[in-house]
Amino acid sequence: MIDSKMADALNDQINAELYSSYLYLAMAADLSSKNFNGFAQWMRVQAQEELIHAMKLYDYLIQRGGAVLLAQVDAPATSWDNVLSAFEDAYEHEKYVTGRINSLVDLAEELRDHATRSFLQWFVDEQVEEEATADEVVGKLRMVSDSGNGMLMMDRDLGAREPLLVASDDAD
Ligand code: FEO
Repeated sequence: MIDSKMADALNDQINAELYSSYLYLAMAADLSSKNFNGFAQWMRVQAQEELIHAMKLYDYLIQRGGAVLLAQVDAPATSWDNVLSAFEDAYEHEKYVTGRINSLVDLAEELRDHATRSFLQWFVDEQVEEEATADEVVGKLRMVSDSGNGMLMMDRDLGAREPLLVASDDAD
């Protein structure tokens, strides 16, 4: 049975991942409203990925005999000045999440909870990828944000990101 301190911290992380999903969905909606449907698609898929992160924690907690306690999810911002500022916020958010994952690892080590420490390694590795991806998009946007053509090309490229989850109507 998982230590209650560790279970509380994992429940907080479920909330943080659900908030991440909400944040990226808000960015997707704002980008769609500005006709950047490719950037919006990328954010929609990112929102799905965050939901999967939350579910990994959810399943692990249940597997270890912990109770999943879902708390209120804060409302994210609803609009950004431009595409670059949305992706800059996404990058900052990922750095914040990395800090949270590192704190969870510290707690697992302090509690000598080797199973949770091992489980969390997936998130440690995932955060390296999450930060690198967001940082790369920010870097490219800084290069092209003054060029209409460049922005349209990036919008098209990022719009190629495949969905991870499909609505049941689209599944067959
Ligand atoms: Fe679940 Fe983007 O970190």
